[in-house]
Amino acid sequence: MTAQLIDGKAVAAQVHDEVRAAVAARVASGKRAPCLATVLVGADPASSVYVGSKRKLCEKVGIRSEHTDLAPAVSQAELLALIDRLNDDDAVDGILVQLPLPAHIDSELVIERIRPDKDVDGFHPYNLGRLAQKPQRPRELLRPCTPYGTMRLLESTGIAARGARAVVVGASNIVGRPMAMELLLADATVTVCNSKTRDLAGIVAQADIVVAGVGRPGFVKGEWIKPGAVVLDVGINRTADGKLVGDVEFEAARQRAAWITPVPGGVGPMTVAMLMRNTVMAAELRQP
Ligand code: GUN
Repeated sequence: MTAQLIDGKAVAAQVHDEVRAAVAARVASGKRAPCLATVLVGADPASSVYVGSKRKLCEKVGIRSEHTDLAPAVSQAELLALIDRLNDDDAVDGILVQLPLPAHIDSELVIERIRPDKDVDGFHPYNLGRLAQKPQRPRELLRPCTPYGTMRLLESTGIAARGARAVVVGASNIVGRPMAMELLLADATVTVCNSKTRDLAGIVAQADIVVAGVGRPGFVKGEWIKPGAVVLDVGINRTADGKLVGDVEFEAARQRAAWITPVPGGVGPMTVAMLMRNTVMAAELRQP
């Protein structure tokens, strides 16, 4: 079997269209365009590129963005004061502080300072707590962008999460943990592994759905994949020769899976697309 590729660029483009239409409808009804405030501390080249691509996409879908660059040595108190100002600014719907932050700043404190209804990353404990609860009734919620986008890719395959065995490899705050909660909400049977898990091969081999987010190139071996599985690779690793590769051995896994995300062009484009969606949702939550 050779897997079908899950085209993250195409699914992300659908999300862009949905967001553009939602923004246009808000503006047509006399409301202002949603606004995302981005904050970058220091000048890490990768972080600068990420923030730049987020702002560029804002412009493409009609979301306003405003950006603040802070010096690498900025004090924690100054950063928290900026967040307080953005929290209180009625013209700002979403706040994104690019991670990682310099070591002298407590990232948890920063994340917790952002108003939960402006937390478009979905990293605030309030939003993560909501994601961990089985909802009593349908409700909107700001969810972490990468797992949210990964679920959207899974939906695009038509393979149901309900009743499926899902294995998440990697238990980070940004990917693995919220991913497990998303899959639980979709009624999958979820196992969360990490790099120290015993018999990882045997556990992955049982999975109908595999999500890899460990940040190690080729960590999940192609031969572990159950024939017919869906493989969602969240890893983005740069090799010594400058190539981008995922956490899964792509060519070998592709021979066994039914569906697989490529790297690049799989989960990557979905993260920024879902950030746009969250920004519109934050605007809707604050001004229905
Ligand atoms: N750094 C790497 N990924 C992310 C993300 O999704 N949000 C933020 N704020 N920082 C990141």
